[in-house]
Amino acid sequence: MKPKILITRRIPEDILAMIQETCEVKLWPEDDVPISRDVLEREISDIEGLYCLLTESIDDALLAQAKKLRIISNMAVGYNNINVEAATKRKILVTNTPGVLTETTADLTFALLMMTARRMEEASQFLRQGQWKTWSPMLLAGQDIYGATLGIIGMGRIGEAVARRATGFDMKIIYHNRTRKIEFEERLGAQYRTFNELLKESDFVCVLTPSTPETQNLIGKKELERMKPSSILINTSRGGIVNEDDLYEALRDQKIYAAGLDVFSEEPLSPQHPLLTLPNCVALPHIGSATVKTRREMARLAAVNLVTFLQGKKPPHCVNPSVLEKE
Ligand code: DGY
Repeated sequence: MKPKILITRRIPEDILAMIQETCEVKLWPEDDVPISRDVLEREISDIEGLYCLLTESIDDALLAQAKKLRIISNMAVGYNNINVEAATKRKILVTNTPGVLTETTADLTFALLMMTARRMEEASQFLRQGQWKTWSPMLLAGQDIYGATLGIIGMGRIGEAVARRATGFDMKIIYHNRTRKIEFEERLGAQYRTFNELLKESDFVCVLTPSTPETQNLIGKKELERMKPSSILINTSRGGIVNEDDLYEALRDQKIYAAGLDVFSEEPLSPQHPLLTLPNCVALPHIGSATVKTRREMARLAAVNLVTFLQGKKPPHCVNPSVLEKE
């Protein structure tokens, strides 16, 4: 008997076929409509494996109904959509997809940094709306990237990849992390700073720390006030780490120069959100890892995690490996 699993969104056909070789699959067949809570609740009691996305909230109440569930394979590196503690308590393994999206997400982070510093979105709108009358000395003048100071909060894989890109722009790299990374400092000439030092000194503050209860509202009014008026905030990690109400006020009142955001506390972001009224805010719809190659790799890795485990072996990327230990 093949184990029953649920996949909460359409995934590439060949990857689906690979899973179907060893599992009985139920698939939510839509591309752009998330699975409803009702359907999830209905299906969860009957499955051994769940292949899900960051759009699904896998909370304690849902897991309480998951009597047969043994693995949750998240097609993302972040797993703040899953109550890992509740899963661990029930001996359910959680897996994720680190590594394969590092460079792609670092590219987008750097693109946002360049877009905001050089006012590219604003400039493009200016041209399309027929406002371009002449070249003039200070027209759409922005901030320099070359030689500026980049402050990275959260020095994991993506932080390092962003730092590597910054060396090509001769940027000074400073970072804040729970633990110092001496080898990284030596390799890239980066310097460690306390959180407040980093906020004060950076021309670009890049948020790349995971979303945890401790990092909620890490950047709010007080932190934004510590930043230079010429500085730019980039967040490609998770919404909720930056307080959006405080950010809106800081951008509106020009307490900081600009912000580039790929993630929001509520996704999808409402088109009526006040942040979208500001010319100094560039907002993207959570596309950090969105290249065809990387999204395929993430889908494949999530499938490998799931299938490997259901075949009785240890998957490559376990979030809570303690559940695999024999009692
Ligand atoms: C992740 O993987 O956590 C991203 O946010 C989506 O690629």
